Amino acid sequence: MNPLNHVAIIMDGNGRWGLKNKNSRNAGHKAGLNTVEKIIKETIRNNIKFLTLYAFSTENWKRPKKEINYLFKLLENFLINRIEDLHKQNIKLKIIGVKNFSLRLNKLLNQSEKKTSKNSKLQINLALNYGSKSELIGAFKNINKNKDKISEKSIKKYLQTKDIPDPDILIRTGNTKRLSNFLLWQIAYSEIFFEKKLWPDFKEKDYNKIIKKFKNIKRNYGNI
Ligand code: IPE
Ligand code: IPE
Ligand code: MG
Repeated sequence: MNPLNHVAIIMDGNGRWGLKNKNSRNAGHKAGLNTVEKIIKETIRNNIKFLTLYAFSTENWKRPKKEINYLFKLLENFLINRIEDLHKQNIKLKIIGVKNFSLRLNKLLNQSEKKTSKNSKLQINLALNYGSKSELIGAFKNINKNKDKISEKSIKKYLQTKDIPDPDILIRTGNTKRLSNFLLWQIAYSEIFFEKKLWPDFKEKDYNKIIKKFKNIKRNYGNI
């Protein structure tokens, strides 16, 4: 049975779910938050130490302003209402991506990270304004600046995920088979699961099915 330390998820399909069920994309984002709560609980129950959630990509700025504002309001309210409880559950929150949001949201994100920084039950990496290409460019620039040699080790050192083991599992919900600029370096040997269900319809049992399947996969890493 494979050990499982890190699950990364591209939470896709909120907009389509919202349009289909409530005639509003934003309603889908709100519904998606319930799935986030369920998956956090289930991750803890499965004793998994790292959960990385793709919440907003560097490309998502192309969306209508109204949708972007709604997404960040949702995040703000989530942090205000839920950070205390997450902290009590010994959960550490880390943001990956570039924090260039409103002053208020940046502050809230920094406070939430600081408050939970010593927690050890589960680390949630929230990818916000995250893009793998820009992360890699940043790493190469830093290597140059510090006159480091290019190696796997030095690249890892300058990634935002430097202290995080690579994902064992990558899940993308929403019936689309692409990576959308997510963790391109880090998923070199991840087991990838493309899930038909839209994110708000993704349930604990779907998650557990993937975990169970993962545990029995033969991971070769090039060997036989
Ligand atoms: C993913 O759901 C969530 C974010 C990008 C914030 P989408 O909003 O992309 O949902 P679809 O793919 O349009 O259904
Ligand atoms: C990827 O979903 C980003 C997040 C889930 C945050 P998108 O819906 O933005 O991806 P594309 O645009 O379909 O590739
Ligand atoms: Mg999408």
